[in-house]
Amino acid sequence: MCGIFGYCGRRKAAPILVEGLRHLEYRGYDSFGIAVANDGITVQKKQGKISLGGADLSGIKGTMGIGHTRWATHGVPNDQNAHPHLDCPGKIAVVHNGIIENYAALKRELQDRGHTFCSETDTEVIPHLLEEAFQGDLAAAVEKVIPRLEGSYALLVVAAGCPEMVAARKRSPLVLGVGDRAFLAASDVTPILEHTERVVYLEDGDVASVSTKGIVIRQGEANVERPVQRIDWSLAEVKKGGFPHYMQKEIYEQPEVFSATIRTLRDEETPRMLEGIQGVTLVACGTSYHAALLCRYLIEEHCGIPARVELASEFKYYTLPGGDLVVGVSQSGETADTLAAIEKARMHNHPTLAITNVLGSTITRLADHTLYMRAGPEISVAATKSFIAELAVFFHLVDRLSGGKLEPALGSGHLAIGEALLQDLSPAVELCMGARSMFFVGRGPFYPLALEGALKMKEISYIHAEGYAAGEIKHGPFALLSPETPVVALCPPGPAFPAMFSNIKEMKARGTPMVVIGAGGNQELEEVSDVFIPLPGGGLVSHILASTTLLQLLAYHTAVALGRDVDQPRNLAKSVTVE
Ligand code: F6R
Repeated sequence: MCGIFGYCGRRKAAPILVEGLRHLEYRGYDSFGIAVANDGITVQKKQGKISLGGADLSGIKGTMGIGHTRWATHGVPNDQNAHPHLDCPGKIAVVHNGIIENYAALKRELQDRGHTFCSETDTEVIPHLLEEAFQGDLAAAVEKVIPRLEGSYALLVVAAGCPEMVAARKRSPLVLGVGDRAFLAASDVTPILEHTERVVYLEDGDVASVSTKGIVIRQGEANVERPVQRIDWSLAEVKKGGFPHYMQKEIYEQPEVFSATIRTLRDEETPRMLEGIQGVTLVACGTSYHAALLCRYLIEEHCGIPARVELASEFKYYTLPGGDLVVGVSQSGETADTLAAIEKARMHNHPTLAITNVLGSTITRLADHTLYMRAGPEISVAATKSFIAELAVFFHLVDRLSGGKLEPALGSGHLAIGEALLQDLSPAVELCMGARSMFFVGRGPFYPLALEGALKMKEISYIHAEGYAAGEIKHGPFALLSPETPVVALCPPGPAFPAMFSNIKEMKARGTPMVVIGAGGNQELEEVSDVFIPLPGGGLVSHILASTTLLQLLAYHTAVALGRDVDQPRNLAKSVTVE
């Protein structure tokens, strides 16, 4: 949520900043802006996406600067509320990701002392506080101001005539890039990859002073060393590579993502904390929550371990079950609610495990142990390949804990995904694209997939879509069924098939257009379907993977047919770093 990027080197900063912000735009795209420091500060900022143009960079001199791409929290998206924000004389510029919770009180206090504000943002209090604290040493001024800020922040600050850029973080991600005679700072590594693979992850409370001479990090009074780490993501992975959208590229990467995740986990030891566990609580948000819900079915059936799944945003209101291992599932590793859940679990002395895609992300530093999925950078706002990678991690864990019950299926999962990628979904797309409202239904492990299919459809096509347990739909939602309300039903072979088939017939009897995903060869099932999509693969694991892929493609092609902005749907942002 919001992306910040800073550059300090020997090249002209403005075009580098704008290019870096393009990579971060998936974190928020309401507005963008840059500030370049030289003898003064030059600011360009604009409502809207970078791709819409409007940044006049000609003549911006200076080799150090900061930039921001915004997901609005305080104040509507407009030019004034766009970052960077300045102090009264326009000598100090700040970009910020996070929320300053006590900004209203600080703003009143600063206004009483004569400061003039130009925006409705919480961020703007920071440059004004810095204006009062700055006496020639920018890092010292930042150190003086941050104890006054309640909430979360990743900050970059530059000042006129000052040779350094200052970075600080508390509960919002911030990573520094160590390049060849150039240093960078960013919310995540995607804009840094263009310059270097060597990064330093800042810790909460760190204040880093970045200049062409290097990086000095302080925590309180003391200088601290943070390790330089090498990122194994490549620049090619953050580019579209010939696909019209990142989402399509990421869906097509899924066979390899699944195999790579399984392969790497196989070479790792099973975390000790999993030995003899009596119960597990999984916490996550959105798509990651759906992956966790699916895991519950498998872990209880195959491992005999009681599993509970909670929305991370609700977890704080529950009492924790004694002794459970608490697993936080988060692609980004930065989702505020999931981090809060892990913190709560730790406070109550529960062992904690993180499942994430991002090396060095905050969750990896909070949890006792981390398992990485190998999805590579996911740029499209809608999660696709990270969901498949989360499933791969869960399948692997269930396999280990059950003494190899899933093993034969894990080696061939990628084939089922590959076959699903080849399906022609145009009749289903045609049926869905005219709908104002839809349902997705399934049973057992296919119920979480119905939830995920509905989430994908609504977030990128803007068609209202609800996921339901097929058995629940008669308990109310039936009233909404009509010839204008298509239902996508997941009906794979397995123990739930007879009940699912009956549900499909009941819905069909109400004139509901049915898109059915099921194994080919069952004539009765095909006849009851308005559109039948044959499900590749044999067995639970491959049916889960293939169904996921088909649902993602259905949402993708429907959104494209409707002319939606697939990679950057309205109002959303990739990484939800506020509660
Ligand atoms: C939906 C989507 C979101 C995320 C959710 C959690 O396509 O991407 O629902 O799944 O914001 O994000 P992570 O997994 O990063 O914690």
